[in-house]
Amino acid sequence: MRRIAVINQKGGVGKTTTVCNLAVALAARRKKVLTIDLDPQAHLTLHFGAEPGADRPGVYDVLVRGTPLDDATLKVRKNVWLVPSHTRLAGAEAELVSAVGRDVLLHDSIADSRRKYDLVLIDCPPSLGVLTLNGLAAANEVIIPLQAHFLGLQGMGKLLETITLVQRRINSDLKVGGVVLCMFEAGTKLAGEVVDDLRRFLAEARGANVPWSQARLFDAVIRRNIKLAECPSYGLSIFDYEPHCNGALDYARLAVEVLGVAEEPVELESAGRTDAPTPAVRIDPPNSQDSSIANIA
Ligand SMILES: Nc1ncnc2c1ncn2[C@@H]1O[C@H](COP(=O)(O)OP(=O)(O)OP(=O)(O)O)[C@@H](O)[C@H]1O
Ligand SMILES: [Mg+2]
Repeated sequence: MRRIAVINQKGGVGKTTTVCNLAVALAARRKKVLTIDLDPQAHLTLHFGAEPGADRPGVYDVLVRGTPLDDATLKVRKNVWLVPSHTRLAGAEAELVSAVGRDVLLHDSIADSRRKYDLVLIDCPPSLGVLTLNGLAAANEVIIPLQAHFLGLQGMGKLLETITLVQRRINSDLKVGGVVLCMFEAGTKLAGEVVDDLRRFLAEARGANVPWSQARLFDAVIRRNIKLAECPSYGLSIFDYEPHCNGALDYARLAVEVLGVAEEPVELESAGRTDAPTPAVRIDPPNSQDSSIANIA
């Protein structure tokens, strides 16, 4: 089972938007998808239109009280399930300080689940604390959402270092699957330079003994699209809210890439139809001498 942690300790880069809409796009391709809201902000929970209620079990109870994952799982869409969050999850870090094996609690609870999913998508908080470590320990893949501006690359060295440590010490299966550009604005010189740097950085890692040696920069980029920012407040995915907008097309295309090429024909039942799965935007960056990613790792 593919278990994908969507992670970047930088805030507001598109992690939650990606988990929600990618999950619904994958579900429309008949995949059974479990999503896990590991963020005390509970934005993923709200995005799915679920109430982050204190009166029913969620990810806090799974981690701190040992509640079985299946007892904390809600069905939120056709083929999509959610383990919701709640602000009390913010206390988990302190409460787990002395817990034995505190980094593998989520991993173990997924392993104990009796339900079968094709994919698990884990929405990590914007930090590298115990919650994110649980996400990384439970995953076998990482997708990094990134904004294509200079500051977007800041902190990526620390992120990759953390992923490397988790891979070496806790979870030898862990690898970086790819980087997805979010809130992308095509045609700007800076975006082109950042993309260029990123491509070079990933190319240089090919064959190296690092968890990102097979990472790809997804061809499908998520363009800045106001509909993507509007739909969470209605508790809707982009496919429920505006199925033909650029945001829906971009996430449908990302789903195709995440699944790989040898997948069944496009059939976005609940999500509306899209065109053939071609990349949303071809990235053709200008040449750049300025390697702002040189500090990474
Ligand atoms: N492609 C996009 N176009 C326009 N707005 C977007 C896009 N992607 C995300 N947003 C908006 O940007 C904000 C941040 O996105 P999101 O919540 O997904 O980021 P995040 O990385 O999960 O944030 P945090 O680190 O706080 O968890 C949200 O208001 C979201 O609706
Ligand atoms: Mg988020």
